[in-house]
Amino acid sequence: MALPAQKDLFDQYAVSYDETLANAIAPSGESREFFAAGRVAWLKRCLDEANQTPRALLDFGCGDGATTPLLLAALRSESAAGIDVSAKSLEIARKQYASARIRYETIGEFQAFAQMDLAYCNGVFHHIPPAQRAEALALVNGALRVGGLFSFWENSPWSLATRYVMSRCAFDRDAIMLTPPEARALLRNGGFEILRTDFRFIFPRALRAFRKIEDFVYRLPLGTQYQVLCRKVR
Ligand SMILES: C[S@@+](CC[C@H](N)C(=O)[O-])C[C@H]1O[C@@H](n2cnc3c(N)ncnc32)[C@H](O)[C@@H]1O
Repeated sequence: MALPAQKDLFDQYAVSYDETLANAIAPSGESREFFAAGRVAWLKRCLDEANQTPRALLDFGCGDGATTPLLLAALRSESAAGIDVSAKSLEIARKQYASARIRYETIGEFQAFAQMDLAYCNGVFHHIPPAQRAEALALVNGALRVGGLFSFWENSPWSLATRYVMSRCAFDRDAIMLTPPEARALLRNGGFEILRTDFRFIFPRALRAFRKIEDFVYRLPLGTQYQVLCRKVR
């Protein structure tokens, strides 16, 4: 797959990714770790409800790899692969998080055919030009076994807060956001059955007293991010 634009962009930001993102999300009053932990906890809740315990995980577009160990620990899985187009981001990921159970590879190096039980991605597809998304999704599909799940997280274009944060983020300048219906259509066409769509992260830290409400209104399109949880059917 030839994806020079995203590779160059995230190679350029590999070292400063953390700081650039921290500055962009500062108005939320929360850290990058808060959002990553929240996504993983929500996924765990969804998997528990569906009685799913994935053994092998794929973190697609893992960047500097920070979420991969969180997924492995929270889901009590056996192994995880983090893959990305940015070799420089993967260098950082390997140094910090590679282990006997976690490996990081470029999408060129990665080889897994129908072996993975669960794939996860966050904030990746808005960086992939629309014409290249089906090909990227085919890679995820090919790595999953039939029946395997895909936890697809994106920033919600229906949230003004999300749009504001992304306008502050240098590496989001060329991003083309996906609405939930666009994401679901992409996933359906890519061989997935949609299980659920949930919206998360409504309130900033200053209004955290209201966050309990978020667990009751997750079906409403109020959150700054959303997850489409889907299952590979072909
Ligand atoms: C905003 S970062 C998110 C990183 C990570 N998922 C996280 O939540 O911290 C987007 C990542 O997607 C990667 N990416 C962009 N296009 C990709 C593609 N076609 N295949 C795999 N990764 C890609 C970028 O290199 C970058 O690391």
